[in-house]
This record gives sequence, structure tokens and C-alpha cells, in this order.
Amino acid sequence: MSTRQFHQARWNEPLLCDLGSVGERGVLIPPFEAENSEALGAEWSARLPAQMRRKNRPALPEISQVEIMRHYLRLSQENLGAGLVADFGMATSTMKYNPPVNEHLARKIAALHPLQAESTVQGILEIIYRLEGFFKEISGMDAVSLQPRAGSQAIYANIAIMRAYHAKRDDFQRDEIITTIFSHPTDAAAPSTAGFKVITLYPEANGYPSLEALKAAVSERTAGMLITNPDDTGIYNPHVREFVEIIHAAGGLCAYDQANANGLLGIARAREAGFDLCHFNLHKTFSTPHASGGPASGASCVTAALAPFLPAPTVGFDGKNYFLDYNQPDSIGKVGSFYGVTANFVRAYAWIMALGPQGLREVSEIAVLNNNYLLKKILEIPGVSAPFETGHPRIDQVRYSWEKLARETNLSVIELANRAADYAMHFFLSHHPHVVPEPATLEPTESYSKRDIDAYAAAWAQIADEAYHQPELVREAPHNAPIHKMNGREYLSNPQKWVLTWHGRNKWKSE
Ligand SMILES: Cc1ncc(COP(=O)(O)O)c(C=O)c1O
Repeated sequence: MSTRQFHQARWNEPLLCDLGSVGERGVLIPPFEAENSEALGAEWSARLPAQMRRKNRPALPEISQVEIMRHYLRLSQENLGAGLVADFGMATSTMKYNPPVNEHLARKIAALHPLQAESTVQGILEIIYRLEGFFKEISGMDAVSLQPRAGSQAIYANIAIMRAYHAKRDDFQRDEIITTIFSHPTDAAAPSTAGFKVITLYPEANGYPSLEALKAAVSERTAGMLITNPDDTGIYNPHVREFVEIIHAAGGLCAYDQANANGLLGIARAREAGFDLCHFNLHKTFSTPHASGGPASGASCVTAALAPFLPAPTVGFDGKNYFLDYNQPDSIGKVGSFYGVTANFVRAYAWIMALGPQGLREVSEIAVLNNNYLLKKILEIPGVSAPFETGHPRIDQVRYSWEKLARETNLSVIELANRAADYAMHFFLSHHPHVVPEPATLEPTESYSKRDIDAYAAAWAQIADEAYHQPELVREAPHNAPIHKMNGREYLSNPQKWVLTWHGRNKWKSE
């Protein structure tokens, strides 16, 4: 298959605030109605406390709608993303296809206000209630909260539930959480933020820790275990049930990070593996926009014994009406304002309804097939390997290593990734620490075709060939991107090269 070179657009695009001109407007806001002024009295604005009244007009961009549209369209052309190219280099932060029809449905609830009376939002409450039901079925758990606004927040909620459960039993000595190095870093970060000591297990030659390592880690201080399975290597730990039994025998709870559920839907459930809690990322598995490109949503799922500790309120149904149930004295409390990200609930609900149970299973079967097809193609490329011998197919993703090529060509994986941008690809390396040397992690999901996968593998083969025969071409890449190269240290420490915030930019301009 021939590879296609890709040229990103280069626009000399100013910031929105530097576009437009004084007096230009995108939206004309209707004047304050006379009857409201009359009702409030002539001096109504004087009644606002002085410290709440503006002294100057806000420094907002003054710009027409059409200019705004052009601005964002131009920026989008300076980008790599799922709308333009096959984007499966995000791996553990999966980008799959988000059907626009679901977007259309999500807009239907845009006019709702979260403070409306329950009787006027029965529709969205029903969607939340039914979506919670889907997650109970998919996970095997008994109760669900959709309040968390990210996977990491759902993990934090699950950790807080574990703590509340032990506290309720006056079991205060349990201050340790066990995780594994290839679980997502939030599985260590959330318990650490919650004040737990984190014990991290490292893999054996088969890609996951031994039962002996786990047995050595548990004690009467074990509050629980929090693991991702399959983890970021795409390897499924077949001893996960025994892991759970060891933790339970020590009096701990087990939370399953199911953000890598793309290969498990309708096939394996957290409950059957013995877990007490799990969470899903709607923005990874259930086809809602991803956190870095849209508001995220996490579903926290628990057994009946842990249901009283879920974030409040949950959504109840009395046979006639849906309602927000605040009557949960043991709840860990709110983890986010209002109901959660309701637009994502509509998108995920529509996606699940469109697929049905058989369709969800098919999603996973295709995701696993695509991943293992890609794995086979990638392993034909000189210099790349997939560390860890499992003797089994990988599940949803693979963490590859360019170590051999890096050693033989003196090019790093970052230089290869820069060259990949010239072929309309980017790929995620790995979380830190880089246990897999010169890492690159790919997850093709169910969204991409054989043609996409063949093209992706062909581009990787081309880059490897260039690395061996034209290393300077790779070292100097990217050649076709709007930004040439960001040398982290040089740029990040130099405020003349870039700024992170609007205030920073104003400060920089005024210096
Ligand atoms: C396995 C896993 N767990 C947790 C998370 C954290 O989710 P979020 O980025 O929504 O906080 C991710 C993110 O991609 C993940 O891949």
C-alpha cells in the first residue's frame, strides 16, 4: 500500500481577541424589556452593590459570526484529529468515532437548566435512570452514579467510597491501595490525592505481576486494590480473579478501572471477576467526545453493599415520577455540580440504544480483531517489537517499542513521532515511567477499517525505512506541519516563545 503525504494548513492565525474591530457584533442581544425596568423601578441598577458593578466594559472580542466560524475552521485545519484522519494513536486515551447524529440528539437538551423543577426535567432524568441501568447490566454491578466528570473523578469517587466503607466499620488502619505500574496513572494518583499510600506492583516476563508479589504486598493495612485490566499494554491478566480473592481475604475492596473496556463489552464483567467497584469512561468506550476535546463523563458502578456510599443525589423512580434522591446519609457527597454532563448521557444512551446488546459485543470483537491485525502488520516492520510474551492475543491496544530501531539509528521515538505528523498521524508514547523503552501505544478500536489500518502500518514501515536510510529526514521532521518542532525545555522556559493564558499573553505584550 502506498503511503500518503499530508500537508497541514499553515494559517497566520491571530488570537480571537486580535481579530475583529470595535463595534462588530456576532449576536445582537435584545434590549432590556421596558416592563422589566418598570417592575424593578427606575433606579434598579443602582441597587446592585457597588463592588459588583463593572467600572469598565469587559475586554471581549468584538467580532462577527462569520469571522468566528472562519477562525475556528482555520485552526481545525492546523490539526490532526479523528475528523480528518484515522486517529488511533491516542491508545489509552482512545479516540473513536462519535456519530454526529448523537450530537444532534444531545443538542435537544441544550435549553434545559439544571435548576429547573424535577417535574419539568422528567425526560433527562429518565435517560439518566435508564443509562444507569445499562451500566449495571454491562458491569454486573447493582448501583451506578453518573455524576463524575472524568475517569479520574470516577476513580476518586470509588476510592472515597472505599474509605467511607472502611470508616463505617471503624476499620481506620487501612491506608494502603495496591495498583500495578501499567494500570492508568490515575489509579495511583487518585488514591494518593485521597491520602492513601500507594503500592505499585511491577510486571513479570508475561506482562503482569505475580500472585507472590501481590501476596507480599497485602496486609491488615490494605484498603483495596485498583487495577486496569487489560492495562496499557493491552495484556489481560488471566489471574485477575485470584488477585481479587487475595485482596478480599486481607479485608480489602477491589476496584476495576474499566476505561479499557473497548475489548470487553458483552464479554467479561467486573462483577463476575469478583470486583466490588468499577468505572467506565463514557468518552473512551461509549462514543462521547474525549476529555481533551470535550467534556468527559465517568460512570462509577458498585455492589449493593457499597451503594449507600455513592455520590448523592442518585436518580430514583417511584413508579410514576423520576426524582433526585438526596436521602443518602452515608453518601460520600457530591463529586460534581448538578447531575453530571447530561449531553454526554444523551450521546452514550443513543449509542448504546443504536447498537443493542449484540452490537456492543460486536464492537468489542471488532476492536480486538483490529488490534491484533494491526499488531501482526506492525511486527513485520524492522526495529519494532511488542514487549512481553503472553502467548495470547492482546485485547484493545498494544504498547510497542522502537528500542531496536533507536539503538541502530540513533533516533529517538520522539523523532519518529515528529516524522509521523508528516504522514497525518500522531501517536502517544507512554505514561511515565517508560517501563517499555522507546514506547508507542496504539489502539485502533472498532471505528477504523482494514484500509485505515493498512495505511497506518504502511506509514510506520515507511518511517522505519527512512530512519535506516535517510535518518536526517526523520531527525529534521516534521516538514509539513504548521509548527516545526517544540523543544520542550527551550520553549517552556521562554515566555517570548509561547504563553499559556490570556493574562500571560497580555503581560507579555505589555513588557
Ligand atoms: C485506563 C484509564 N483509566 C483512567 C483514565 C482517566 O480518565 P480521564 O482522562 O477521563 O480522567 C484513562 C484515560 O484515558 C484511562 O485510559
